Amino acid sequence: MLQMKSVRVECSSPYEVVICDGLLTEVVGAFPAGKEGSTAYVLTDENVAPLYLDSLETGLRRSFRDVKAVVIASGEEHKTLDTVGHILGELARLGATRSDTLFCLGGGVVTDTGGLAAALYMRGIDVVNVPTTILAAADAAVGGKNGVDLPTGKNLVGTFKQPKRVICDVSAFTTLDNMNISNGIAEIIKCGIIADQELFELLERNTSDTLDFADIITRSVKIKADFIRKDEFDNGERAKLNFGHTVGHAIEKLSGYKTPHGFAVAIGMALLCQNSRVTRLLQRYELPVATEFTSEQIVNAAMNDKKKDGDSINVIFPSENIGECRVKRVTFAKFQREVESGLVYVRDCKT
Ligand code: GLY
Repeated sequence: MLQMKSVRVECSSPYEVVICDGLLTEVVGAFPAGKEGSTAYVLTDENVAPLYLDSLETGLRRSFRDVKAVVIASGEEHKTLDTVGHILGELARLGATRSDTLFCLGGGVVTDTGGLAAALYMRGIDVVNVPTTILAAADAAVGGKNGVDLPTGKNLVGTFKQPKRVICDVSAFTTLDNMNISNGIAEIIKCGIIADQELFELLERNTSDTLDFADIITRSVKIKADFIRKDEFDNGERAKLNFGHTVGHAIEKLSGYKTPHGFAVAIGMALLCQNSRVTRLLQRYELPVATEFTSEQIVNAAMNDKKKDGDSINVIFPSENIGECRVKRVTFAKFQREVESGLVYVRDCKT
């Protein structure tokens, strides 16, 4: 009997997120996914391919006629239209048809570029996400948003396309380095701050060595699924999942995408929360809370954010209580004052 948890995402095309700890081959094999006689295409990157491609392919051979792989370079700098063009070219060269399925095996860059390629190829083929990072499992692989960056800003091009299924084997996290563990935990801390005080407290009682990842990924996915059920196409409630992201995306852009996503979001959360419990928790998981960038630089970089409208922007603010937040429309001038006061707060916290 396979040990796994499952979360159902209720949306325009409902699906299951399956979370297991080990046995990727068996779990993938246990879900016959292919249309009869169809081929599975696995998109992965050069770091993940040597680690998990064989296991996934072995599982897929149980229900697909054929399995073929497309390997891309790793790193946020490759989350571009060029990479999507390359994936589309490879799918065409390898003979992919509309009955085939694309499996995205890897982190957020793979699920984002693969999701967009799957949405575009022959006007849409099925996609299944198999996240191998905490960041992708807790966020990018679930919810149907895909996208790539433009020089002007992050995720400015993309579509909504829900996956047919998400299969997350948390044993893949054992090969993550400390940076990637902290990077992903930032998104889980975010879930605690915006929607789940118990999750926040569970993180406070643990360290990255003692966390039960199958449990906290399941909790985070349930929170995300709840937002998607209420607002799949991001017209209101779902925006709360972007807590810390307006500042975060600005910092990523200012750093030339050298600051990892979760680290940038951690700084964004610290600046907007101005709460010692939050600052302590971020530091417990080796996440930064301060930045060298000025409030003016951050706000200027945020000017191209998707949440912008005229001279104002939707910003998510935490409530007094951990586990609640609200979306507020503020002018860029007001937003800059908030960021400035956050910068002063974290500077004083550190000394
Ligand atoms: N990453 C935020 C969302 O999926 O809405």
